[in-house]
Amino acid sequence: MSVRKITAKITGVGKALPEKRLTNADLEKMVDTSDAWISQRVGIKERRIAAEGEWTSHLASRAAADALKMSGLTADQIDLILVATSTPDTVYPSVACLVQKELGAIHAGVLDISAACTGFIYGASLAWGMIKAGLMKHVLVVAAEVNTSIVDWKDRDTCILFGDGAGAAVFSECHSDTDGILSIKLGGDGNYGELLELPNSGCRVYTDESGNKLGRYIIMQGNEVFKQAVRNMAECAVCVLDRAGLTTQEVSLFIPHQANTRIIEAVAKRLAVPAEKVFVNIANYGNTSAATIPIALCEAFEQGRVKKGDVIVVDAFGAGLTWGAMAIRWA
Ligand SMILES: CC(C)(COP(=O)(O)OP(=O)(O)OC[C@H]1O[C@@H](n2cnc3c(N)ncnc32)[C@H](O)[C@@H]1OP(=O)(O)O)[C@@H](O)C(=O)NCCC(=O)NCCS
Repeated sequence: MSVRKITAKITGVGKALPEKRLTNADLEKMVDTSDAWISQRVGIKERRIAAEGEWTSHLASRAAADALKMSGLTADQIDLILVATSTPDTVYPSVACLVQKELGAIHAGVLDISAACTGFIYGASLAWGMIKAGLMKHVLVVAAEVNTSIVDWKDRDTCILFGDGAGAAVFSECHSDTDGILSIKLGGDGNYGELLELPNSGCRVYTDESGNKLGRYIIMQGNEVFKQAVRNMAECAVCVLDRAGLTTQEVSLFIPHQANTRIIEAVAKRLAVPAEKVFVNIANYGNTSAATIPIALCEAFEQGRVKKGDVIVVDAFGAGLTWGAMAIRWA
């Protein structure tokens, strides 16, 4: 009798978005920009903004509770909670600890992941590894951000891009040679760290030429980030498909990081994935960093665009630089 491999499949997805919307028209009143420019150059129409006192852990816990509910598991069955975030409530306690407390996941290990916008895929990779190794059965991976806490509302280059939100997925053990996670590729290049930085977010002190301490706001060389994103996301998606023995024609749905529609279109073009197979929701939420992929996955599922047997490729890119992709056959 042949023994099927231990792997991981997604058994639950969830999302949480703040109520408050910030439209392009609102931004027109704050900086020198226009709805036309943002729509054409980036593809965003509005983004969600956390309310006062609504922190990353709150969004993370809501998304996690949703995913847990869909999985049919109880919180005490979760072996590990991973939270990908660049905007934790605090460095410690970690957001994962706060989510554990909120859910009552009394048997779970807890860890935050710092891989910027690629964090969810890094988390998925750790979940897969733990489950494949037979060390754990159920791992909850959450990605949550309150990006609006690190945005300089006077800087039109960046403040139009980001939004707040959270997404989550439960990864559970399954025995299959064909279903669940098929392959993952992670990547990064610290040589390009300066392209996208969050100054004064750690022990290093950033100052301007006059020695004045900079604010804790995202600074970015947008054009260079754009080029790196297209190249690395395209290569990474090809790599996971190769590893899974699949071609781009076999992809049912491509879910890229939602940073810019022009990046998404350029990556899809390189991969020769037609537009109808590409999931795009950036118009509604902007770039929610690590949370874009699990929010999109959750919405794709809600919209019936993810069905049993479908090959889904998720693909992300972020500060660091970091990048990663994952191929799944939905089970
Ligand atoms: C940031 C980004 C949208 C800028 O778009 P772009 O097409 O590269 O635009 P540029 O920076 O070349 O600027 C083009 C012009 O628009 C202007 N501009 C920049 N931001 C603007 C804004 N918010 N509103 C109106 N005009 C703006 C620039 O000043 C420039 O004007 P000029 O031609 O008179 O000099 C784009 O580079 C991008 O999306 N980069 C990747 C960012 C990203 O994904 N970051 C997160 C990674 S996870």
